[in-house]
Amino acid sequence: MTTLHELLTSRCAAAMLAAGAPADCPALLQTASRPEYGDYQANGIMAAAKRLKLNPRELAQKVVDALDLKDIADEVSIAGPGFINIRLSPAFLAKQTELAFTDTKLGVPMPAQQKVMVEYSSPNLAKEMHVGHLRSTIIGDALARIMQFLGHEVITQNHVGDWGTQFGMLIAHFLEVRNSGSAEFALTDLEAFYREAKKRFDAEPEFANLSRDYVVRLQGGDTEVLALWQQFLAISMEHCDAVYRKLGVLLDRDSVRGESAYNDDLPKVVADLATLGMLQESEGAQCVFLDEFKNKEGAPLPLIVQKSDGGYLYASTDLAAIRYRTRSLQLDRVLYVVDVRQGLHFQQVFGAAKKAGFAPAAMSLEHIAFGTMLGEDGKPFKTRSGDLVKLVELLEEAENRAFEVVSQKNPDLDESRRREIAHTVGIAAVKYADLSKNRTGDYVFSWDTMLALDGNTAPYLQYAHARICSILRKAEVDFSNASVALADPAERNLALELARFGEVVHGVGREAMPHLLAAYLYGLSGQFMRFYEACPVLKAEPAISASRLKLSALTAKILAAGLNMLGIEAPESM
Ligand code: ARG
Repeated sequence: MTTLHELLTSRCAAAMLAAGAPADCPALLQTASRPEYGDYQANGIMAAAKRLKLNPRELAQKVVDALDLKDIADEVSIAGPGFINIRLSPAFLAKQTELAFTDTKLGVPMPAQQKVMVEYSSPNLAKEMHVGHLRSTIIGDALARIMQFLGHEVITQNHVGDWGTQFGMLIAHFLEVRNSGSAEFALTDLEAFYREAKKRFDAEPEFANLSRDYVVRLQGGDTEVLALWQQFLAISMEHCDAVYRKLGVLLDRDSVRGESAYNDDLPKVVADLATLGMLQESEGAQCVFLDEFKNKEGAPLPLIVQKSDGGYLYASTDLAAIRYRTRSLQLDRVLYVVDVRQGLHFQQVFGAAKKAGFAPAAMSLEHIAFGTMLGEDGKPFKTRSGDLVKLVELLEEAENRAFEVVSQKNPDLDESRRREIAHTVGIAAVKYADLSKNRTGDYVFSWDTMLALDGNTAPYLQYAHARICSILRKAEVDFSNASVALADPAERNLALELARFGEVVHGVGREAMPHLLAAYLYGLSGQFMRFYEACPVLKAEPAISASRLKLSALTAKILAAGLNMLGIEAPESM
């Protein structure tokens, strides 16, 4: 099976070849820029004609003559300098609807299966998770679900920061507080505790030395210090789990493989780089210099893998992680869902890993970058008092605000049901607001926008889905075996949108861009609304009603599947 786009591309490519176009000139198939032009257009003729020094319209005519789309299109025409416009036939689209309706994958063809790791969330465990990790968690989880839907073998990975100086600091502070007899002392507020320790670390040289001492003992495997370290990890991980539970993400304890897991390999990474002749000493540190990376003045940029005091760094751990992912997991693709500001780090690490042979050339290492979450004032998102926002509190606020919205819309529902829906809607709103934007940019976090009942929001899509489900519940005819007929333009347009689902999901998987799926779902529900206004569904004669119910049912299935791929629930009633 192929996507609609692939099917049309292969037919156009065959016709271009038959018309004498060079084999390496692509058909460049796109969805039409305007409905008057048809549904798809092939834009590759002009470039082919240029190569052949032919009049593009003449070549286009030859391609159209050779183009076999009898079973697919009812109109093929040439426009402008040599575009080929294609309008799909209602009969073909009707068939696609029927096929997709019975297909468990809703008409999405399965690509060749790959083994894909999605590394996401990855907070630093000494502190609490902050909004940067919220974006990583939401985007990464959507990507993991999209890859799963596409039939790939997916490994989720939480590369937590569980090692380093900050733990020496926490341990030193903890022991002093405990020894000073505050028996009541409990680590409920890890963030505040971290801040106190950091303040002392910066202000008291003696405390700083003590902290470093603990780091050395930790690295040396001192059992008492290790036990304390583990205690901090456990508390911190519980905070993370609370956020993951609220968000309903796929991450669990099996996904966790923190930086500390790579400790043993760090000296070997550095030794192997040395053997390969890839290391250079610079200001006492061991560095890898790659030709591609220079600063503005053209001076080479180092990737530091070992400090002058012998300590290892973030980059050394990432190189070791790549070795592990290559040797133990044999992945085809690794997606690193991390803040865009770490772009240079990843380009350098990926470059060094490939050059050193730590990862095979065919293994695709991709930095899935995202921008900063901003408050409505356009500045990085903070609480009114300027503190970092606690994620659990943010998600609770989302639920409370959604409760207001749900109660206004449906005051008669009993409270417990409204609370349930509010949880679903509130979390969905936070996720969707993020996922519906191109991840590479910054985005403004706005409660009012994300909870609006119309526009490109989660509540809008969830209600649109529930409304279709309620129409289906009222159906009196059995439409499961009904044939689909597309007489009205609104029916045809809806069927066309439904048939595009496959190519959209493929594109989203390839480019790791969830907002393309969100935009598609929003467009689809708009197309459904126009159809529903133009075409009576329940009050039509039985055969027509059955056909329209099938279109409606497929719309609901695709909306639910699409929302689920974004990590969003789609209740059947709300
Ligand atoms: N812990 C890091 C941070 O909070 C993110 C880790 C990203 N993943 C990686 N393989 N380096 O910034």
